[in-house]
Amino acid sequence: MPLARGPSGALLLGGVSLAELVRELGTPTYAYDLDAIAVEARALREAFEGAPHLVAYALKANTSGGVVRTLASEGCGGDVVSGAELTVALACGIPPERVVYSGVAKTDDEIDRAVACGARGIGAVQLESVEEVARLEARARAAGRRARVSVRVNPGVGEGATHANIATGHDGAKFGVPREDAARAARLVEASPHLELVGMATHAGSQFTDTGPYVEAVRVLFSIVRAVRDAGGGRSLAFVDSGGGFGVDYGAASGPVPCPAEFVRRARIEQREYRLDDLALYVEPGRSLVAKHGVLLARVVQSKLAATGRWLMIDAGMNDLIRPALYQARHRVVPIERDVDPASATGWRVVGPVCESSDDFGEHPLPRDPPGAVAILDAGAYGYTMASAYNGRQLPVEAFIRGGRVVARTRRASADAWAEERARAGD
Ligand code: LLP
Repeated sequence: MPLARGPSGALLLGGVSLAELVRELGTPTYAYDLDAIAVEARALREAFEGAPHLVAYALKANTSGGVVRTLASEGCGGDVVSGAELTVALACGIPPERVVYSGVAKTDDEIDRAVACGARGIGAVQLESVEEVARLEARARAAGRRARVSVRVNPGVGEGATHANIATGHDGAKFGVPREDAARAARLVEASPHLELVGMATHAGSQFTDTGPYVEAVRVLFSIVRAVRDAGGGRSLAFVDSGGGFGVDYGAASGPVPCPAEFVRRARIEQREYRLDDLALYVEPGRSLVAKHGVLLARVVQSKLAATGRWLMIDAGMNDLIRPALYQARHRVVPIERDVDPASATGWRVVGPVCESSDDFGEHPLPRDPPGAVAILDAGAYGYTMASAYNGRQLPVEAFIRGGRVVARTRRASADAWAEERARAGD
């Protein structure tokens, strides 16, 4: 059930009144619609039309157990970037063979965990440099195992196609094996008795609002895989992985964003073009599975009328949702009790309590008489996972909605406990 207004105009998520949620749980609170997340995953999986595939959900977008378990039960795997994320993925029921692990600085301990789990270790450790081959080989040898490996290729695309902080596939980025070294990395892996080359991967960046840079990256990857195979290599390959990055529409005026299935459809066309359709196609979406199905709820603490504008101070800040401060992202802010009547709407500059000028959610049309509480939309991805306790603020509460009711919630941490712990540090 998408976000909707009830008959009285009250905002509902998954059929649950957000005003009631605010009264019961307080603020700031994230709420997630698990049913809608399941539907999102199903729609994406259908785009593969039964062809071998894996939707490896990028846990960094949202690591909450309720969300990860929902995606695991829809048959998704996981893309993790730390030993701790790997532990969450496994604990939430994602089988080890459906996990891929990317990361430019995996520690030995993290590699050991990935190699040791399950009968044969995780699905693939994704190598991010030629230099990493030797270290992974040493860890696999020490464990007495043959580690499954995928080479993540830096495709050299995407600069300028998204915010600079989330463009990962251009030549100046730290991620992935440079494309001119990719075939050599593959050969090194194949030459090791402790490693098995099962995949070749890429990831061009995040929040692409058209398929262009994604398809460009996919072509670079597929042409390298084709060349590896034409040279007689790649015999143990089981998959190609085209990464994540499917953008979502944050309500910007920039026009429609292709649906996640469209990115998959385009990658599959290229896969056939390069005669690689005997391999499974993996994708690593994070944002597109969860962003639209989460909101951040906040109460209005104070309003201020100044010659320079109308300010609305809310009790959620950049420590709860850092995307506006870090990427100049715009998330719509809407009242919870009833919709805005355009006749009485006025522009309010919505800001948080944190002592930083970048703690600013931008200007939004809201009732002239300030509402008591607001919802910040499309906050299901990279919201809670990037939250911090800056300024002595506690992490927000999370509520999980399924079947029209709240099925689980987390507890609000104690500010006093935080203060005591901080005061003791250095004793
Ligand atoms: N795979 C790899 C290797 C990645 O680095 C990422 C994201 C993904 C998959 C998932 O990308 P997605 O489908 O979510 O676009 N905090 C930023 C986004 C950082 C993305 C980092 N890597 C934001 O809030 O916009």
